Amino acid sequence: MIVVDSKENHSRKIARNIADEILLRQKLNKNIVLGLATGSTPIFLYTELVRLHIEEQLSFKNVITFNLDEYCGLCTENDKSYYHFMHKYLFNHIDIPSENIFIPSGQVEQLFLKDYCEGYEHQIQKLGGIDIQILGIGRSGHIGFNEPGSEIDSVTRQVKLHEITRNDASGDFDGLENTPTHAITMGMQTIMDAKKIFFMAFGESKKEITKKAFFGEITDAVPASHLQKHKHKTICIDFNIK
Ligand code: PGA
Repeated sequence: MIVVDSKENHSRKIARNIADEILLRQKLNKNIVLGLATGSTPIFLYTELVRLHIEEQLSFKNVITFNLDEYCGLCTENDKSYYHFMHKYLFNHIDIPSENIFIPSGQVEQLFLKDYCEGYEHQIQKLGGIDIQILGIGRSGHIGFNEPGSEIDSVTRQVKLHEITRNDASGDFDGLENTPTHAITMGMQTIMDAKKIFFMAFGESKKEITKKAFFGEITDAVPASHLQKHKHKTICIDFNIK
């Protein structure tokens, strides 16, 4: 667990670590698979990765990315979609091949959803599994959109969003009535299988749930608490919780 006073400092260190891993793989002629998060928490990390690309010529040609989640019902052109978010903050500014970018679609018909989610999961496995997973936390205790009650062996699937999550997102959607009710998310198992995790939580509003997650009981009621069992994680926070 690393506590520093600014999310910028954390983000710079994480970006440097990711860059080092990318460069290492380039030397070996190998790809690296990143699991990416959205929301306010990772924005500066993406800004920093873009800076490394522009100022230090860090190439992302050998990088494959899988995003954690997407709101159901939103098309890629919707500026509230995570597809839009990722392109705005990262993908439009780096040289990652577009075929290396995987983001769950929010527009899969119900009939095809099960197959689609299995396919997403299968694609992650086929490409070697996630090497580095970036995570934030929601005030409901979710990671990805694995809301309270998510089981440890859950995989990519459609989920109902928790009321806390919808309330927190409602500002972005001009009111609760316009806020999506469901999402597609990687599962707890998908996340726990990542070889390395960078968990980030910034600001007082995340203090209580982060404390529960890492110092409380390990329980499905606080999905992030399962991270206590992950062997290779770094917890980056800007508040004291002991
Ligand atoms: P935030 O969301 O980064 O916007 O706080 C994090 C999350 O809900 O996982």
